[in-house]
Amino acid sequence: MKYPKEYLDEIKTRLKVSTVVSKTVNLKKRGKEYIGLSPFKTEKTPSFTVNDEKEFYHCFSTAEHGNIFDFVMKTQNLKFGEAVRSLANLAGMRPYTFSKEDEIREKKWNNYKSIFNKYVNHYHNELLKNSNSTEAKDYLKNRGLTKEEVQKFKIGFDTNDFNFQENIFREYNENEIKETGLFYFDENKKKYISRFRDRVLFPIKNISGDPIAVGGRVLKDSKYLAKYINSPETLFFKKGSNLFNLDFARKLSNNLNSIFLVEGYMDVIGLSKNKIDNVVANLGTSLTNRQILTLNQFFDEIVICFDGDDSGYKAALRAAENSLIELKPEKKISFLFLPDNHDPDSFVDEKGKEFFLEFSKSNSVSIHKFIYNHYFENMDDSPSSKAIFEKRLRSISSTIKDEFIRKYVLEYFLDKISELSPNTNFKYKKNYTKITKSLKSTQNYYNETKSLKAIDLKEFSFLYILLKKPELIKDNFHLIENVKLFSNENKLLLSEILSQSNNFAITDIENINIDKSLIERVLKYASIKHIMVKNFNDNEKILEILSELIRDLKNYELEIRIEELESRFSEDLSEVTFNELKELKKLQKIN
Ligand code: CTP
Ligand code: MN
Repeated sequence: MKYPKEYLDEIKTRLKVSTVVSKTVNLKKRGKEYIGLSPFKTEKTPSFTVNDEKEFYHCFSTAEHGNIFDFVMKTQNLKFGEAVRSLANLAGMRPYTFSKEDEIREKKWNNYKSIFNKYVNHYHNELLKNSNSTEAKDYLKNRGLTKEEVQKFKIGFDTNDFNFQENIFREYNENEIKETGLFYFDENKKKYISRFRDRVLFPIKNISGDPIAVGGRVLKDSKYLAKYINSPETLFFKKGSNLFNLDFARKLSNNLNSIFLVEGYMDVIGLSKNKIDNVVANLGTSLTNRQILTLNQFFDEIVICFDGDDSGYKAALRAAENSLIELKPEKKISFLFLPDNHDPDSFVDEKGKEFFLEFSKSNSVSIHKFIYNHYFENMDDSPSSKAIFEKRLRSISSTIKDEFIRKYVLEYFLDKISELSPNTNFKYKKNYTKITKSLKSTQNYYNETKSLKAIDLKEFSFLYILLKKPELIKDNFHLIENVKLFSNENKLLLSEILSQSNNFAITDIENINIDKSLIERVLKYASIKHIMVKNFNDNEKILEILSELIRDLKNYELEIRIEELESRFSEDLSEVTFNELKELKKLQKIN
């Protein structure tokens, strides 16, 4: 039993080698390739490379070499058939079962494809060569298209050529033709009619580049005819799974991280004319999870850029709510809103490539911000409106599949909500005093010195011990040398103390080369001093207190960095930030 070549090719098209390999090997990008530790051998320096463009992996230390099927077979010890099944599943494709149905489907597909190719090629040539097509040619010229775009997208014009139709009906059987949706049976005239007659044709291809549907546009806008009609759904064309221009755009993913998602044929073509080719269109239907997942197989960032009108905005909102669910740590979805009823086609046409890209860079908003802003703008001041607002945001974030993204998006929403009513939503505010829990014994004093931050008091106590017990510090230098302080004055003091003890001398307050008032502050406010008086000679006890202080200071430092990273993560949702965060949170637990 042999898999159809096309089926295997589609799996390879949909799955980059790096996507498959990185499920088991940690890969790092190096130029055009990826590199990692060989899965075939234990090694310390990476000798294993992956090349997505050439669709292979190569291991320099074992000479293992192959494509995604070889990789899965070798690393998971699978037979070819099992590898195909597993990878087809990963690619989101239907399994191939070698059943009677599969065989029939295969035959249908070959006819379908061949009818479509004939149709698209024929009417493309008609547009280029037939004088019947002058009006269509003029129309396209008026829209600024040149022969280059017409050929690149194989744009056609259905001249309703009866000879062509006859040939098709001679060569294929009626059911096969009906299956394509290119012709429909007119009950009154009792004959088949070309569905897209007198329309400009935009072929829609599957990911492998075979035309499977078309969109047809009228030459003159009229009240009676739909501006565009698209192929009906067929056995091989499912609207929610396809994207216009994906076959072409996906090839750019080895060099580009992001893809523009626009509404219409003309947007794709207009951007492409301006040398922006990483663009696909969902053709006026609402965006599906499948489309997002497909784009994510190739690109880390999806920039959704719909028309700058009401319906474009609504479509964007729907797209945001549908796709938030699929958001993954290493992926990003953002939205770009265009000014004044522009669509991407008209905007890039007016402003050009550089401006468009610059505009996109500085004006796109992340998906979670867009959703927040939308509901925020639709909220009024009443408690019930606010309550609905918060509930809606909570419920939207709860649908996100990835647990980490879910957590951080919810946190982003709650943080923003707490900014709205600073008096009531206190519990959401980051509260450092929780982390720098004051020692019980210092609690009272802390209350008297509220103007100072809890962290300052910790630092004073820490410095106080250093100043008062220099000989103890000299013997335990390793404990303190890596402690980080936050207030600049205290940092200065610490570095002076350290530089003295570093010379194995015993710190001498009198001789510290620093503004004396800094030392006085420590002596005055260090909450530890009462305890110190009582336990001055109990070195063990003092060391214990010191360790506790050091732990608190380290945790504070961690907390600050976590806070910074969390806010960065809510901006960039990048994997690097995410991993760093994970590490820090681990550390925080250990402490
Ligand atoms: N569309 C459709 N049927 C319509 C209108 C639109 O299927 N009656 C789809 C088409 O795929 C179209 C997309 O929705 O490309 C976006 O619609 P619109 O913004 O109206 O299309 P444009 O591409 O801007 O069309 P044009 O510039 O040709 O007027
Ligand atoms: Mn448009």
